[in-house]
Amino acid sequence: MSKTENRGTQRAVFGSRFAAIAATVGSAVGLGNIWRFPYEAGAHGGGAFVLCYLIFAFLIGVPVLIAEFVMGRGTRSNVLGAYRKLDPHHPWYWAGYMGIVGSMLILGFYTVVAGWTLEYCIESLFGMLDFSTESAGHDQFVKLTHGWHPVIWTVVFALCNFVILLRGVSKGIERLSNIMMPVLFVILLVFCVHSFFLPGFEEGCSFLFKPDFSKLTPSTLLGALGQAFFSLSLGLGCMITYASYFTEKTRLAQTAVTTMILDSAVAILSGIIIFPAVFSFGLSPSAGPTLVFEVLPNIFYRMAGGGIWSTLFFLLLFIASLTSTISLSEISISFFTEEKKLGRKRSTALSCGITLIISLLCALSMGPWQNLTLFGKNLFDLLDYVASNIIMPLGGMICSIFVGWCIERRFISDQLTDNGRNRFIWLRPLVFCLRWICPAAIFIIFLDSIGAI
Ligand code: PHE
Repeated sequence: MSKTENRGTQRAVFGSRFAAIAATVGSAVGLGNIWRFPYEAGAHGGGAFVLCYLIFAFLIGVPVLIAEFVMGRGTRSNVLGAYRKLDPHHPWYWAGYMGIVGSMLILGFYTVVAGWTLEYCIESLFGMLDFSTESAGHDQFVKLTHGWHPVIWTVVFALCNFVILLRGVSKGIERLSNIMMPVLFVILLVFCVHSFFLPGFEEGCSFLFKPDFSKLTPSTLLGALGQAFFSLSLGLGCMITYASYFTEKTRLAQTAVTTMILDSAVAILSGIIIFPAVFSFGLSPSAGPTLVFEVLPNIFYRMAGGGIWSTLFFLLLFIASLTSTISLSEISISFFTEEKKLGRKRSTALSCGITLIISLLCALSMGPWQNLTLFGKNLFDLLDYVASNIIMPLGGMICSIFVGWCIERRFISDQLTDNGRNRFIWLRPLVFCLRWICPAAIFIIFLDSIGAI
């Protein structure tokens, strides 16, 4: 996010249009695409889930993303301040509190997975990953993540995140990610080509792309909706916060559509890499959160120069995770600095401190406290479920109702036309989606999934 300080004010801005897109894509593309998408698709029966996910990303995700952009750039505030500035008389700003809590819960489990990424990267750098047999992926995962390992790597990742946020070197890391994200994209393409030659390619692709509508259950719909929100970083105010750093020149709708396309492309590529391998190596697509970590190393093992590919891949995934955790942390940091007047350093320490505690609990729930469950889920799975399937869609629904019904149309159109400088012909359909389609769809999926209809 080539963030440059705005002289005279405290607020930072993303210097150029490209920087704004790079920052939003950096936030959107992360573990959600490469780790979460394949295992959710695998757990929910493949094609039908993928189709719903794409429809939701386009029909619900893009309008909500635009709504968040409008709120953020229009008010130049953190999530709470944005709601408050636009309507000081009603308690809409509670949605802001919900977003802040949600971001901390997500950081809780996200940091653990990002820690695994770092551990895999270092292990493969030193040639310590062994995948000589087909079940080795599973054994290796168990070995690498047993006991205190997740706790240690979670702390290491959290420290990286903290140091970057504290030093304000986000400029550097974002510049790095501007180079690394295209490299990640190219590498994914290389792995796709490799996938093509695996014996399970056809089976994997038909699992991913042929919708079997008998598998379309309420939980598939809710899962796909949650995935669309998670992947596009929606419903928490992350995009409100980032858009508050956009310049007047940033085209909001174009940025939203570009982000959605790139984000979905990375998710689909990741599916094309994972599922053929799953079927080729006789693994189960519904293995859950460990899926990618068990499958990927098997792929690398079979490639020429596998160790190098593996190190590079996990390094890139680590960087992609960092650009997402930075954006997640920014939600509460901007709240503490602007609403609580804590100062950037203190806000960063407070935000990172709280999330470190939550992530340590999550890490322990994957290791020594594995048997502690609530509603049949350990803490890690529970936080993921609550944040992605409840808080994010709910936050998105509130944002969409708020922008659709409570904000003057003039305000929205000023933002989308950059104060009349550009044309925007989609205003009516957009407002229609925000007023009716998005809230109704989210509401129905909710009711459906709790068995109320
Ligand atoms: N979209 C990110 C990913 O796919 C995760 C994220 C969620 C980031 C919410 C910011 C806010 O990995």
